[in-house]
Amino acid sequence: MRIGILTGGGDCPGLNAVIRAVVRKATTEHGDEVVGFRDGWRGVLENDTVRLDLAAVRGVLPRGGTVLGTSRTNPYALADGEQRVLETLSRLGIDALVPVGGEDTLGVANRLAQAGLQCVGVPKTIDNDLDATDYTFGFDTAVGVATEAIDRLHTTGDSHHRTLVVEVMGRHAGWIALHAGMAGGATVVLVPERPFDIDAVVAHCQHRFDSGYSPIVVVSEGARPDGAPLTTASGQTDAFGHIRLGGIGEALARVIEERTGREARAVVLGHIQRGGTPTPFDRVLATRFGLAAVDAVHQGRTGVMVALRGTDIVQVPLSVAVAQLKLVPVERYAEAEVFVG
Ligand code: F6P
Repeated sequence: MRIGILTGGGDCPGLNAVIRAVVRKATTEHGDEVVGFRDGWRGVLENDTVRLDLAAVRGVLPRGGTVLGTSRTNPYALADGEQRVLETLSRLGIDALVPVGGEDTLGVANRLAQAGLQCVGVPKTIDNDLDATDYTFGFDTAVGVATEAIDRLHTTGDSHHRTLVVEVMGRHAGWIALHAGMAGGATVVLVPERPFDIDAVVAHCQHRFDSGYSPIVVVSEGARPDGAPLTTASGQTDAFGHIRLGGIGEALARVIEERTGREARAVVLGHIQRGGTPTPFDRVLATRFGLAAVDAVHQGRTGVMVALRGTDIVQVPLSVAVAQLKLVPVERYAEAEVFVG
């Protein structure tokens, strides 16, 4: 068979482990040929390919980013996008495509599968917000980076008697803030799912100062005060209509400083959470996803995504996988609330 693979959306530690697993299994067990498309759907639209043989994936397992490159190109934003994708794939003799991505990339994969393409999706996002899988790879790495940052901020914050506000990624879902905030012993954790009361945030910070320590506030970039709009970095949107977020950490720090009368500083972790080498958990999950994707291709499955359920890798329909996001439920947030204030 000829299998195509692409990585789309924001990069994520573990993408290279998926590519390596697909190439290793497809080539050595099945004698397949694997064709990589550069920069997500852009590579398919523009027929920009790279041959992926065993030599091409040697040494990539611990490397962050993606050797294929990525973009947020949306074929369905173009009038002839779907037709161009199908034409390229047919011209290249691609029997099945393995798109590795989040809600947007897999949303495109779902529509292409409905148009007749053999498509097996692999879920990735550091946000961990894909509903049909227990975990996406990249999340564990991002939480590790954010937790290490919080650990470090505790010592400098306590030394200077300041509030430190840590802005982490998480557009719609607060999984990174929740896990890093719990692991790092944050004073306050703010997530997009629960608009927050600024008076309560200030009171928690004041209480922390009163007990002799300095507060750490962890805030998802998509969190917002009750009744207020999202804080955006600019008016720019991507090809899938997502506005660029950023700035909530700085805005919070200003209010906390004014109302507690103590200095407050904001730290934006941004792309540091997405870059660098994946954790062992992410390498293993990404590798298992890649192997399972090749199995699904050879079973003739299409319109499916490989997913983690407990410790098993399963297949779920792509249509179900992209139907809704996995948000932080009330009971998970309630667990974190035991430790704040
Ligand atoms: O991939 C998910 C994500 O990391 C979000 O948490 C964040 O809002 C977005 O990507 C940032 O994307 P970009 O790097 O394109 O600005």
